[in-house]
Amino acid sequence: MSTATAIAHPNIALVKYWGKRDSALNLPATGSLSMTLDIFPTTTTVSLDEGASGDVLVFNGEQRVDGPAERVTRFLDIVREMAGSTLSARVETVNTVPSAAGLASSASGFAALAVAASAAYGLDLDTRSLSRLARRGSGSASRSVIPGFAIWHAGDSDETSFAEPVAAPDLAMVVAMVEKREKPVSSREAMRRTVLTSPFYPAWVSSTAESLEAAAEACRDGDVERLGRITEVNALRMHALIQSCDPPIRYLSPVSVEIFDRISALRESGVEAWATADAGPNVVILTRPASVDAVTAALDGLAELAVAHPGPAAALVSRAGE
Ligand code: DP6
Repeated sequence: MSTATAIAHPNIALVKYWGKRDSALNLPATGSLSMTLDIFPTTTTVSLDEGASGDVLVFNGEQRVDGPAERVTRFLDIVREMAGSTLSARVETVNTVPSAAGLASSASGFAALAVAASAAYGLDLDTRSLSRLARRGSGSASRSVIPGFAIWHAGDSDETSFAEPVAAPDLAMVVAMVEKREKPVSSREAMRRTVLTSPFYPAWVSSTAESLEAAAEACRDGDVERLGRITEVNALRMHALIQSCDPPIRYLSPVSVEIFDRISALRESGVEAWATADAGPNVVILTRPASVDAVTAALDGLAELAVAHPGPAAALVSRAGE
C-alpha cells in the first residue's frame, strides 16, 4: 500500500483572485499575488486502498460524506487520470486554521492534498506542475505550493496558469480572527454570483490586472508603502464588488470595519500597516516586522491575534510503499 503525507500553509493575497474565466479548469480572470504564511499548517495523508470501492475523507478526525468529500474525489480523479490508476484513497487531513472562515483553509488543504496525492499515486511532479494541480482543487491553493511571496499567473490554459515565487521586501502579517464560524456563502458560490450579477465585475478585472502589475513592480523595488497601499485598496475593491452582487453578499462584519478604521488611524500616526480581508470577516494586516507590536497593540481587545511571517512551500514529509 502506498501512502504519503504532506504539509502546506495558507496564503493571504495582497492582490486578490476573485472570478474565474473557466470554472472547469479553475482558470482565474486575473493573476494574483500572495504571501504564504508560516502558521496554521494543514497536514494531509493519502493512502491508496486496493480493496476499497470509493474514497474516504477524514477531516479533523471526522469522516465526511458531503460536499468536501465529493470535492476531494473530483480532485483525486484528476490525479488518478494523470497516474493511470483506478485505486481509491483514504485521505486524512488535519487543519489548524479555522476552516471556511475566510482564512484560506482551501489553499493549504488542496496544496497539501496535491503534494500528498501525487506522491501516493507515484507521480513525480515539479513545482510548476504541483501548482497547476493544486489550482484544480482550489485556485488559491496554486500559491500555497510556493514559499513566501508568489504570483499566480492567470494564463489562458491549464499549462499557463500556475504560481511562482517573487522576491519581496521583509514583511509580516497580523491575522485578526474576528469569527471562526463557517461563512454563510462559500467563496466559490460568491465568485460565481459576482461574475453573473455584478455590474462592476468588468472594472474589477481591468483594475486588478493593473494592480497586479504595480504590486509586482513594488515587490521588485522593495517599495513597502506602495505595496501596502495597493493591498488595502484591492481588498476593499473586492469587498465592494462582492456587496454589489444580486442577492448581495457581505463578508465584513462591524468588527472587521472597525479594524480597517484602526489600521487607517495607525497609519496616520506614522506606522506602516495596511489591512486586507478574504471571503470572511477576519482581517489580516500587512506590516513591517518591526511594527508588529504597534499593530497588535492597536487591535488589542478587538479580536484574537496571530503573527505570521513568510512561510515554507508545501512539502512532502513522508512517503512509504510503492
Ligand atoms: C478571497 O481559491 O477559495 O481568498 O478556486 O473556487 O476554490 P476556488 O476559490 P478560492 O478563492 C479565494 C478567494 C480569496 C482571494 C484570494 O485568495 O486570492
